[in-house]
Amino acid sequence: MAAALAASVRTKLIRQGGVPTFFDNAIQFELKRLGLTGTEGKESRPSIESSEIELLVRLSKFRSRQRLAPMDERTLESLGWVRLPWELTQAQLSASQGVDECLTWRGIPLFKTAFDVALYPMLLAEVAPKTILELGSGPGGSALWFADVIRAHGLDTHIYSVDLHKPEVVDPRVTFIEGDCRDLPSSLPAALLNGLPHPWVVIEDMHAETLTALRYFAGGACRGDYLIVEDSTMKFEALGAFHREWGSAFRVDTRYTDFFGRNATCSADGVLVKIS
Ligand SMILES: C[S@@+](CC[C@H](N)C(=O)[O-])C[C@H]1O[C@@H](n2cnc3c(N)ncnc32)[C@H](O)[C@@H]1O
Repeated sequence: MAAALAASVRTKLIRQGGVPTFFDNAIQFELKRLGLTGTEGKESRPSIESSEIELLVRLSKFRSRQRLAPMDERTLESLGWVRLPWELTQAQLSASQGVDECLTWRGIPLFKTAFDVALYPMLLAEVAPKTILELGSGPGGSALWFADVIRAHGLDTHIYSVDLHKPEVVDPRVTFIEGDCRDLPSSLPAALLNGLPHPWVVIEDMHAETLTALRYFAGGACRGDYLIVEDSTMKFEALGAFHREWGSAFRVDTRYTDFFGRNATCSADGVLVKIS
């Protein structure tokens, strides 16, 4: 297990052009401290606490997990999950949206965590969506930010953003729709939706009738489309019900939910990708 961990760090360093992250350094330091790099003599090996071994085993298992996790397994695991030392508490996650202020983009409030601000650009680069559908525009900062990120990636994506109140932001890459997401057939009618090019990234950030919204997009979504449920810790019931109906067609993409440690995102177990 220690050898596998050490090897995984070496492989990772190759992908990173030889530059270690803080976490790579921490793993290498711990393996060395515990005499587990394979280069130390047996006599110099310190005694290892079972808790230290348990931690390495859990880290090793975490790193060898399947990227796309079945929704039911993931939910079950989350219920019994014991936080690893580097994983966030709920309070730390809350603070990552800002303590004194909220984040802004071009001066407009942006209601994302610091982690999600780092994750979305990677996800958008990988998925290269043709359409982003945002439920809940807020003051419009997130749609504008998505549009700027998309442009930086050289992608041709149009964003539709629905809210009860249309924000003041105007941008040709974004269509703001004033409407009620509890009545999606009116605010985003099938006639419009069916013509929107894939891949889609759908972001539920309005916190009302999540299950109805997920159902509305699930049928029309294609393989590789994403349904992202933000602030999902308060929507686990809806996610559970969605899983019972659509669990065989969607997986949790743990590359994004767990990038900074398990569920260090506002979309805990809520980055769903359609697989069939
Ligand atoms: C958390 S804010 C969105 C923040 C924005 N997406 C961001 O990341 O900066 C939630 C928004 O959902 C909107 N909202 C709440 N219920 C809604 C509904 N039924 N239909 C449409 N929008 C709704 C609210 O008006 C509010 O602007």
